[in-house]
Amino acid sequence: MFESKVYVNRRRALTEGMAMRLSGDKGIAVFVGNVDAAMNYRGNDYKFRQDSNFMYFWGIDEPWFAAVLDLDSGAECLYGNDVDIDDIVWMGPQPSVASKGEAIGCPSTAPLAEFDKAIAAAVAAGRPVHFLPPARYYNVMKLAYLTGISTDAVRKVAPMAEDCGRHASLELVKSVVALRLIKEQCEIDELDKAAEIGYLMHTEARRGCKPGVLEQEIVGRMEGITLSKGWGTSFTTILSQNGETLHNHSHHQIITPGRLLVVDAGAQSNSYYASDFTRTYPCSGKFTTKQREIYDIVEQANELAYSLTKPGTSYWEVHLATVRYMLDQLKSLDFVRGDVDEMVACGISGLFMPHGLGHNMGMDVHDMEDLGENYVGYDDDQKRSPLLGLGNLRMARRLVPGHVVTDEPGIYFIPALIEQWKRDGTDKGFVNYAKLAEYYDFGGIRLEDDILITADGARRLGPHRLPIKSADIEAIMANE
Ligand code: GLY
Ligand code: MN
Repeated sequence: MFESKVYVNRRRALTEGMAMRLSGDKGIAVFVGNVDAAMNYRGNDYKFRQDSNFMYFWGIDEPWFAAVLDLDSGAECLYGNDVDIDDIVWMGPQPSVASKGEAIGCPSTAPLAEFDKAIAAAVAAGRPVHFLPPARYYNVMKLAYLTGISTDAVRKVAPMAEDCGRHASLELVKSVVALRLIKEQCEIDELDKAAEIGYLMHTEARRGCKPGVLEQEIVGRMEGITLSKGWGTSFTTILSQNGETLHNHSHHQIITPGRLLVVDAGAQSNSYYASDFTRTYPCSGKFTTKQREIYDIVEQANELAYSLTKPGTSYWEVHLATVRYMLDQLKSLDFVRGDVDEMVACGISGLFMPHGLGHNMGMDVHDMEDLGENYVGYDDDQKRSPLLGLGNLRMARRLVPGHVVTDEPGIYFIPALIEQWKRDGTDKGFVNYAKLAEYYDFGGIRLEDDILITADGARRLGPHRLPIKSADIEAIMANE
């Protein structure tokens, strides 16, 4: 938990942000924290993870809390129940809700049942009730129950003037996004910590990448590091020799000489700030010529993207410059033929890199995606592209200091996608399928770093950067 003034300032800034977007009776903003989630029966729960928006404004890292911010009077209240003797027997003594409220600069607290009454009173009085679309189903149902809105509408984001405000609040989403996108120094410190844990877990993975080792064993060892130094992983670890499958969560294969191992994994610091790195290793410790050619293109694309990442440039432009570079290089290897600018305009890069260059990162590894990707990743004057690749770009905004983005170009050879493009003529004659036929068993390569936009440019997060140059990787693997 940060100092209480951090949360006080955030709630004040949120109230101001909402005032700029609303007029008349502004209503109340409602925050529902996460509750325990049963793994297989109640009493055997998944490890608790607080809702990121609740954590950001209210800082309480425990289940069964909620809060209300009155946007007209400025009054606020934290709702939660003090423990009883049964809780003390099973969980030990706990601080009071009142003391937790003090710690976040919210001295007004009440039992959880009062939260339900506060919502019912606002609904009965016809006051606007602003809430965010919840990530967890329990919270969807809870808000539907309290407000009388359908569960579908609870997840729909729209301006409050529409349909009598019977849905999640666009004004609240935009106000929250505006704050959470720009990281404060205390958050940057946490992101640096998460990056260092990510560095250590990836170092473990690289050392574990030896012929004969089961992928699952490497995953277990690297995830142990995240638990010993932070909260745990920031997403389900991707570690596979079938790296052409972008999010491959199966780890059942034995490390085999001649193949490539994609490792895409990150950690959460104890206060939930994320890291997200990807490296690709030659399983035999040395790249083949074929592998090195593609690897070096991706490595240079990662470097190019970093060099272009600075305030005033949009990440849309950085994505396009990066895929242009990759297509130009793929052309020199005869994978594609024709005018590179035309290829970029036609989305040919999507065959090789079907995903975007990167995403926002913060307390969520894909920051605030529960609020809607376009609200988080796109400025009001930007529109999402229908092209494969660019259409999957989650962060396109004009960059400003305090943004945190990932830089994760990749090149993949996905036989099913290649076959489909060939069948449908999607490539418009630009693709040399005869050359691609030699790469069906290649796999994929992705290289990812986390970047903070600064006043005069950018810096990679974390005190150390994972080795990335092909020659450095080979030299290190030879000695591990
Ligand atoms: N590293 C996983 C992702 O960015 O989706
Ligand atoms: Mn990522």
